[in-house]
Amino acid sequence: MITSIRGFNDILPPETTLWQHIEGAAREVFKVYGFSEIRVPVMEKTELFAKGIGDTTDIVEKEMYTFSDRNNESVTLRPEGTASVVRAYIEHRLCNMPCAKLYYIGPMFRYERPQKGRYRQFHQIGAEVLGISDPMSDAETLDMLLAFFKKIGLDDIELQLNSLGCKNCRPVYREKLKQFLSEKKEQLCDNCQRRIDTNPLRVIDCKSRKCVEVTDDAPSILDYICNECKTHFEEVKGYLYLFGAGYSINPRMVRGLDYYTRTTFEITSDKLGSQNAVAAGGRYDGLVRELGGPDVSGFGFAIGMERLAMLLKEGSGSTSHEAGIFIVCIGKEAETEGIRILKELRERSLRAEIGYHDKGIKGQMKMADKLGARFTLILGDDEISKREITFKDMKTGVQEKVDIEGIAERVIDEIAQVKKV
Ligand code: HAM
Repeated sequence: MITSIRGFNDILPPETTLWQHIEGAAREVFKVYGFSEIRVPVMEKTELFAKGIGDTTDIVEKEMYTFSDRNNESVTLRPEGTASVVRAYIEHRLCNMPCAKLYYIGPMFRYERPQKGRYRQFHQIGAEVLGISDPMSDAETLDMLLAFFKKIGLDDIELQLNSLGCKNCRPVYREKLKQFLSEKKEQLCDNCQRRIDTNPLRVIDCKSRKCVEVTDDAPSILDYICNECKTHFEEVKGYLYLFGAGYSINPRMVRGLDYYTRTTFEITSDKLGSQNAVAAGGRYDGLVRELGGPDVSGFGFAIGMERLAMLLKEGSGSTSHEAGIFIVCIGKEAETEGIRILKELRERSLRAEIGYHDKGIKGQMKMADKLGARFTLILGDDEISKREITFKDMKTGVQEKVDIEGIAERVIDEIAQVKKV
């Protein structure tokens, strides 16, 4: 048997119904906030991610699917969507618009150690606002994300907020932190000992118990950000209040991508275990310029689809089938009538299926049950001669003979009743 690659999952029905529901809700909410969809390639030149995400990040150092194509060009399966959206924004001169509000849905690839909520192919719904530095935009985009979670019925989540400062104040903090960490070097895990020089901010985000204890009294970034960054952060908080969004401040939240400036955030849930962020993002004011575009700001987020689906499944079991109809036919004449009814129901957009002749009545009823049909229509010679049909509610088990004419209307009425309950 050939199996799928480790960390690459099939998403099967009925879970795909839940995924479609999530994607549909995102499209609906994002549209109201003025966002349009962008579709970028799943593969890019490696240098885009190396430059965009940062050479010393875990993603670029050890998690990318990078290989040479047949022309010996180094290409990479996208580990995230922001760098590609910014590349497209520059390449197609979308910067000529007053601002670009773009969203994307699709697979991302990271060679991480697979565990619950962490996969090598995973899916994101992401959104990016390019061209606005105003703190109101941070709050408005977060409001959109929270409105989306509300629409799909996800509660029990927490918005954790931080500011990572800018290119002027962060180096000052970085040095201070480096000094602090150097004094405690021996007590840190091997990975963090190495990161003191390359990426010290990541050390305070390390999940190892030893490192958490050692960095407990590490200097806080919020004590080091400059006045401009402080004002921006205060304004973001003020706008969040106006938009009605609750949050908590987490100065230890540093992100795994280097492009962030000022506002960063994660939306977390206790129900997810160690991989507790269902969405994350922030502001990235230098990225467009870094990638060769004009000096414009950016803000965005990405939602992890697998983690979100996990939370929704645990909550309400909302993967249930749409109420369906199954037509059981015994005999050729019944089949002719059955196909006519089947086509009429499908034309009216009702989910309808038909039993296959070779299975007999028992086999067909079993199939109806297995497919989760809510109603079964049974047609035999006896029924046909009387122009009747047996109508069975599979949930209550109640069945009755009804007139074959107008059966579609009857089914539509019954389905509407079921949907109302
Ligand atoms: P990120 O924090 O790397 O940010 O990923 C965002 C979300 O994707 C995470 O919170 C998580 O839900 C999900 N995720 C990440 N890695 C995995 C994985 N291996 N398996 C399953 N789910 C995963 C970004 O990707 C940024 N591009 C977000 C952003 C957009 N920032 C600004 N704009």
